[in-house]
Amino acid sequence: MPQLDVLAAGCVHGAKGHASPVHHIRIARADEPDNRSHARNANATVARSARSLVVRWRSDCAASIVLRREPIRAGLQVKIASVVGARPQFIKAWPVSRQLRQHGHLQTIVHTGQHYDHQMSDVFFDEMGIDRPDHFLEIGSGSHGDQTGRMIIAIEQTLLRERPDCVLVYGDTNTTLAAAIAACKLGIRLAHVEAGLRSYNRTMPEEHNRVLTDHCSDLLLCPTQTAVHNLEREGIVRGVHLVGDVMYDAVLAFGARAREQSRILASLGVAPRGYALATVHRAYNTDDPDVLQRLVRALDAVGDTVLFPLHPRTRARLNANGGSPTLQHVRLIEPLGYLDMLALEQHARVILTDSGGVQKEAFFFEVPCVTLRPETEWVETVASGWNVLVASDSDAIVAAARDAKRPPEKPPRVFGDGNAAARIAELVTKAG
Ligand code: UD1
Ligand code: UDP
Repeated sequence: MPQLDVLAAGCVHGAKGHASPVHHIRIARADEPDNRSHARNANATVARSARSLVVRWRSDCAASIVLRREPIRAGLQVKIASVVGARPQFIKAWPVSRQLRQHGHLQTIVHTGQHYDHQMSDVFFDEMGIDRPDHFLEIGSGSHGDQTGRMIIAIEQTLLRERPDCVLVYGDTNTTLAAAIAACKLGIRLAHVEAGLRSYNRTMPEEHNRVLTDHCSDLLLCPTQTAVHNLEREGIVRGVHLVGDVMYDAVLAFGARAREQSRILASLGVAPRGYALATVHRAYNTDDPDVLQRLVRALDAVGDTVLFPLHPRTRARLNANGGSPTLQHVRLIEPLGYLDMLALEQHARVILTDSGGVQKEAFFFEVPCVTLRPETEWVETVASGWNVLVASDSDAIVAAARDAKRPPEKPPRVFGDGNAAARIAELVTKAG
């Protein structure tokens, strides 16, 4: 066995809340006589177990430390910590959690609390039957640094207690980045679901989160071939796997159920293809009051009834700026549960959105999409003619939405075959 690096920086908190610095711990090689481990820290003794170190201080405090980069042997039961916190992550985690369970892995779900309103969080656990989080960190909202920093601290504490073999993170939110940093600093194997996506727009907070997370991941689980190429361009080739898109897995599982069970069209009094559906939440569209007002007015000028489930960020920005303008055709509604959202997407004439997930779902359901952004990570949807980029230009929005048509060719199968999560569950058991 090679000499292993062990978490060495900072303090490790013992059972009585006592903290001691740990430096230069070394594990003996397997061929050394008694396989003893030792620490240069005079006050501590160290014993090794399968994947962790137990450090015992003279004061009778003990703490476990997770070993750095110990390879996972194929076929073993693996303990995974799935870290989620924002709406799309609950949806992405659903197929993965199900597959991890089917593969017999142990799983612990950590919810950072980045999203916390019932309609942004609980509704997905209830409707989709996602296992309840084992750890709810209650971080809530904040500026990027404040929110991400508090998440890193709380996630690190949780990982030290749980000692997983692998941490799974999803997408590109502050929750993703915080969990990636916490896992990477503890030397725990990190797997990124939706790795390799790039907008090449460094003003987006999500772009920082993606790039940084990818660069510290051991397993990069890419939804598309484009994502694999993006990583290659940044010199990342090791641990990269094309698995397909987990949101496609979720749509295959819930699309038909949504059609059968959701009563949302009737309750809103709309007919199939008799309305447009809009979502907006990107900082780029919400944070400048003029841009947001212009965007809402443009949606109103399309002419269709426009159903607009309001993300709390967007509602807060509209309220802060004196409320929405007087609207004729736009109906502002509460954020929807997943089934109602899928039902409205499937029957919309056109979808207008700045959401990554909603662009993909429009494509899966073969509904034309108008993307309220200057670029997209999901370039395949644009190349195939199912998605048009219009940024926040009013005339372009109105024209694209009025002209929206289904292209003659069906959407190409670029997001996998609906088995992305099964591949992920297999890959986490293999050495990266
Ligand atoms: C976050 C992600 C974004 C993702 C989106 C999914 C980051 C940087 N952004 O954006 O990538 O596309 O989630 O929806 O991580 N709020 C509530 N209740 C809630 C949650 C949020 O009122 O349950 C309000 C708060 O005023 C908060 C604001 O929304 O300050 C923004 O929330 P935050 O999680 O910081 O970012 P999102 O815009 O939701
Ligand atoms: N979604 C939902 N209810 C809504 C709006 C969106 O269930 O009112 C779902 C949508 O179907 C998709 C996901 O949330 O699966 C997309 O999340 P969001 O737009 O918040 O984030 P993004 O994908 O842009 O990161």
